[in-house]
This record gives sequence, structure tokens and C-alpha cells, in this order.
Amino acid sequence: MKVEMPGQIRSGSLGWECPSNIALIKYWGKKPGQIPMNPSLSMTLQEARTRTNINYSFVPGKNEKDLRFRFDGKEAPAFGERIRKFLEDIEPHLPLLSHTSLEIDSGNNFPHSSGIASSASAMGALALCLVQMEEEILGSMERDLFFRKASFIARLGSGSASRSIYTHYALWGRSDRWEHSSDEYAIPVKDFNDDFLDIRDSILVVDSAPKKISSSAGHMLMETNSFAEARYDQARENLDQLHTAMKEGDWQGFINIVEEEALTLHAMMMTGRPGSMLMQPGTLSILQIIRKYRQETGRRLGFSLDAGANVHLLYAGVDAGEVESFISSELVRYCEDGRVIRDHTGQGPKKMGDDKEN
Ligand code: DP6
Repeated sequence: MKVEMPGQIRSGSLGWECPSNIALIKYWGKKPGQIPMNPSLSMTLQEARTRTNINYSFVPGKNEKDLRFRFDGKEAPAFGERIRKFLEDIEPHLPLLSHTSLEIDSGNNFPHSSGIASSASAMGALALCLVQMEEEILGSMERDLFFRKASFIARLGSGSASRSIYTHYALWGRSDRWEHSSDEYAIPVKDFNDDFLDIRDSILVVDSAPKKISSSAGHMLMETNSFAEARYDQARENLDQLHTAMKEGDWQGFINIVEEEALTLHAMMMTGRPGSMLMQPGTLSILQIIRKYRQETGRRLGFSLDAGANVHLLYAGVDAGEVESFISSELVRYCEDGRVIRDHTGQGPKKMGDDKEN
């Protein structure tokens, strides 16, 4: 599409805060161009957020695009390089970028390597800033389109980031169940039972060391994994079943699928060539104790895992008191320095200077 560039110099300053998310149906395996091999569905978090501010200066006719990137107030050349490459990649979708100098300031309110996906919140926040910049320069966009474009741009930075744009739950990837779903952006998932409005996610930090394999390397290993096709079929089936469970308020069905997804993700990593084991002995102990506690008490709780050793303990907000006691008495001992990060279903991104969330 040909975009009409304005004739005048424009400059401005704006910011967005964007949360991370935890995938319930996992994205693991992709095609070139950040196209997922299967649809994924995630829960948006609330507390774990990246806050990004940009100062932009758009000078038409001048092919100059300086970039300055600071993380936590300091110059961050390694991150900066990744951002530079990302900006180049998205230029066809945001043509203003070829005439725009940017100063980007970013920071997380959660620790690195804590088992919380920081690329999701970081790329989400940056994408929202860039699409708002485009809106300020070219004129306003319809709200749904604004968030869809932000999700599309975020996906090109990191697949899971496409899902961080929406409140509560989001789906990324084409599925016949959702007419407007797409492999190129995520959409909000709204038809779920009220029981799933308040889900807590206590992240049990077993090991805070940086990841042994990057997600990108992990996705690539799926190309040679003998179980890949079966996994993609399983993800599609699990998505249908999870959606049904969420609509019907079927907690048992929900947790069975979420746990299967977590274990399959690790099974895929273990059976890769080369294979990797990202769980630690403490991870397995926690998983077993969670299942035993559930069996004994019938309480609504279960686990998810990311590509690492830390455990996301998911439970219903109404049971928070009892589950907190369970965490303190039985699980904290497996956590590094007793670290547990408490989060819950979130309201989505927030524009700086705006009280309203997405
Ligand atoms: C295990 O989104 O980090 O968290 O697209 O290469 O940046 P890239 O990968 P990324 O992969 C996320 C993998 C996961 C599962 C998920 O979030 O769906």
C-alpha cells in the first residue's frame, strides 16, 4: 500500500507499558517470516511489564534515521543492535521509519531471567509506541486496527509478543474456531467463563540463570524433530479443547490441557537434535507436589512451564489464601533464595499518561 508522507517535520514524545504473557497453548516451531506452525493461546499478565518511551523526529525527504537505545537508563549496545535490525525489518510496514530518528528508553519492572518472557513485553511495548507514532504523524486509526497493527509489528520482533497486546487472553495463529484469527497477528479471546477472569500465576523461580538455549534456536530445532508433525496436530486439538473448557468453566479440563502443553514443550526440547533438558530436579519435585496436593485437596490449581526451569503455578483467585500457604509450606524450599514472583490475569497494555488500559 502506498502511504502519503506528510510534508512537514514532526516530532514528539510518547510511551507505552506492555505486560508479558504466559502461553497456555504453546508456540514452538515456526516458518520463515515469523509464521507459527500452530496457533497459540496465552494469558496476559499484569505485574510483569516493560515500560518504553520514545522521542521521535520525522524529517520528510531526509533519509536519516539515527537510533539511540537505553535500557534502565543506560546505553545498551547489544539490545540496541537487535532493535536496529527489527526497525529495518519492519520498515516496509511503517515506511515513516526511513525518515525518522528515534531515542528509545526502555525498562522492565521485573528481573531478567526470572522465567518471565521479557521479549514479549519489550517488543509489545515498542510496537505500540511505533504504531502510535505513525498515528500521530499520519492521522488516527480505528482502535481495533491500531491494536491489530501493533500485534502484527510486535510479532515480527518476537512471536509471543503479538499476544501481549490484549487484556486477559489472546490467540495468535489461524484457527477455524475464530473467524478473524491470523498467523500474522493475535486477536483477543473474550468468550470464556467468569471463573477464568481472575487466575493467579505465582512464578516459582527454581533457577534464575540465563536461558541455555534461545527461543529462536529452539524453534529451529523443531525442523528436525521426529515428533514435530504430531506436536502441531496436538496443539490444534488442545486449543479446541482448552477453548471449550474455558467457555464451560471446566477447570479440570483446562488444567489437564495446560499441563500437557507444558510437558510437551519440554518433551520437544528433550527430543531435539541436540536435545536439551531445561528442567532442574527442583522443577520436577514441584510438579509432583502440585499434582499430589491437587489430588488430595481437589483445589483448582495446576502448572505451566516456559522454556526454562521455573514453574508457573496457576490457580483460581478465590483460593489464593490456601494456595499461598501451600506455596510457603511446600514449594518455596525448591526456589532459588525462596523467590516467588506473584502475578495474575492482566488488563493489557497502557498508554503512558492515560489511566485507561487497553
Ligand atoms: C516457549 O516468542 O520467544 O515461550 O518468535 O523467536 O522471538 P521468537 O520466540 P518466542 O517463543 C516463545 C516460546 C515459548 C512459548 C510461547 O510463548 O508460546
